[in-house]
Amino acid sequence: MSLLVNASDGCVRGKNAGYERLEHVDDGYSILRPGFSSIIAGVFVLFLLLSAWNLLGMINPPSDAHVFYLNRRHSPLYIVSERFLSFGLDTSLLRDMSSLPITNEKFVNLARHLAPAYVRVGGTSADCLHFNQTAQGTSEEIISPVDGQDISNFTITDVDFKSLYEFATKSKLRMIFDLNALYRSERNSWDDANAKTIILFARDECMQLDWQLGNEPNSFHHVFNRTVNATQLATDYYQLRELLNKVGYTGSLVFGPEVNHIGDKNREGEHYATAFLQNDKDSVNYVTWHQYYLNGREARVADFINISTFDYLPTQIESMKEAIKLSGKSVAMWLSETSTAYGGGAPELSDRFVAGFLWLDKLGYSASTGVNVVVRQTLFGGHYAMVAPDLMPNPDWWVSVIYKQFVSDKVLKLTPTDKLDSVRLYAHCTPERALINRVSAITIYGVNIDKVPARVTIDGIPAVLDRNAKIFLYALTADDLQSRVMKMNGKLLILQPNGDLPPFSPVILEPTEAISLPSYSMVFLVIHGADVPACRC
Ligand SMILES: *[C@@H]1O[C@H](CO)[C@@H](O)[C@H](O)[C@H]1NC(C)=O
Ligand SMILES: *[C@@H]1O[C@H](CO)[C@@H](O)[C@H](O)[C@H]1NC(C)=O
Ligand SMILES: *[C@@H]1O[C@H](CO)[C@@H](O)[C@H](O)[C@H]1NC(C)=O
Ligand SMILES: *[C@@H]1O[C@H](CO)[C@@H](O)[C@H](O)[C@H]1NC(C)=O
Ligand SMILES: *[C@@H]1O[C@H](CO)[C@@H](O)[C@H](O)[C@H]1NC(C)=O
Repeated sequence: MSLLVNASDGCVRGKNAGYERLEHVDDGYSILRPGFSSIIAGVFVLFLLLSAWNLLGMINPPSDAHVFYLNRRHSPLYIVSERFLSFGLDTSLLRDMSSLPITNEKFVNLARHLAPAYVRVGGTSADCLHFNQTAQGTSEEIISPVDGQDISNFTITDVDFKSLYEFATKSKLRMIFDLNALYRSERNSWDDANAKTIILFARDECMQLDWQLGNEPNSFHHVFNRTVNATQLATDYYQLRELLNKVGYTGSLVFGPEVNHIGDKNREGEHYATAFLQNDKDSVNYVTWHQYYLNGREARVADFINISTFDYLPTQIESMKEAIKLSGKSVAMWLSETSTAYGGGAPELSDRFVAGFLWLDKLGYSASTGVNVVVRQTLFGGHYAMVAPDLMPNPDWWVSVIYKQFVSDKVLKLTPTDKLDSVRLYAHCTPERALINRVSAITIYGVNIDKVPARVTIDGIPAVLDRNAKIFLYALTADDLQSRVMKMNGKLLILQPNGDLPPFSPVILEPTEAISLPSYSMVFLVIHGADVPACRC
């Protein structure tokens, strides 16, 4: 099948042909189509951009090319969840429902652009939450000596719960609700009375959702001066699973144990997870843990582009895999709460352009190791939010939306010839919605955190290209690492007035051209006409 240059198509030829075709194919998101003159203008800009980059390459020649090898195996390396890129709404936000914009249409629209996804309502405050259908209680703040969070008990009503659920359904998200694990009997077993009222309420309202029990139980002593050991929590999770089955939620999934401190020297989180799994009676569908790179109060911009920071995640994932293996169980994992920096994120960093590098690398690296879902902390609230308090999308919202557009759940094996350094790339099949005339494609994406452009070669690609193959390059850059806004191929990313995504205009390259990644950039390379067996099924 001919890919981009279709002889019977008698209109625009050459580099912009695919551009125009893309506009036609992706009706879903390009409501405002550029007229013919703006296509010409666009082509001119693309031409200028291309020349500028070539020029850059000449003035500042990238030292060695970064070489990756695409493995052409016959099945995907992994197939992750179709909701792989998911996000949270921290339970602490429920303490003040009136300032949570879940009924705001603009906010719902931003969330909907990230669907399909899970929205996890969880966090430290989940273990302070009381559900009461009739009364809204308030209590004095109790500040945790650990991280300054309010850890007083608080009440939500059925109205609050329903509005959360309605937000999820309107945004086409699947809600996960984190139940309070600190209701305990004298003998320290879980008291499920309050959870039961939530679950029965949800059942009676025909809500479809999934569940968790507690948050970071290995840190309970530290945060709440309470202790729930892993054996006990496994029993509690079994109790939750039985309760759900009994009331009709047999199809609901359960995720646990929500441990943190993975990768610490004392392996405290790992030990907890191993013991939990050893005692788990198949209650949890996925093993969940929380991941951060940095302390939000101390992090500096240099930390966000430091290779050592990036290298922390592989160590943590490896350590957690070992913990699971040690338990003798075989359960896939989720990063069920994760962001750049803990403690609410780092001011003017976690919500800026520079945070995108760690975020996109985390998505790529996690998928390449079979992590099933990554839950971004958080959609709203804190410095790490994807949507700012003024309801403008932060750069990571754009990165996420673009990821959903060009990256499918089918993971391919892409190996660097050396170790991952400043250029970190990953490969997936391209999702159907981004194909042109259903011609097969793969997407290679990742980051260049170097201050100079980087030249990239991918071995194994020429062998799978059909003769009309083209590379569509989408490069995300900013004028400043701490910019609140981001550009795609030099053009500012902004939503259309009606809330739709703007058309994403590629720079189109011949597969034979060297690929140059701009300095400090995130890139998506959609290789149309690359026919990899693993992407055919
Ligand atoms: C809900 O609040 C009312 C009024 O404060 C109280 O009487 C009732 O016991 C509470 N119910 C639950 C389940 O906490
Ligand atoms: C909060 O509620 C838990 C039960 O969920 C209770 O054990 C604890 O004492 C309460 N904390 C405060 C400060 O009232
Ligand atoms: C775990 O906690 C339970 C309840 O507090 C207790 O009965 C049990 O002995 C503890 N198990 C271990 C291994 O510490
Ligand atoms: C922690 O709880 C124990 C009782 O379980 C109590 O004796 C102790 O004072 C508490 N510590 C703090 C710092 O509140
Ligand atoms: C990168 O991080 C490592 C580990 O924290 C540190 O030793 C190194 O100095 C950092 N490099 C830069 C350039 O900041």
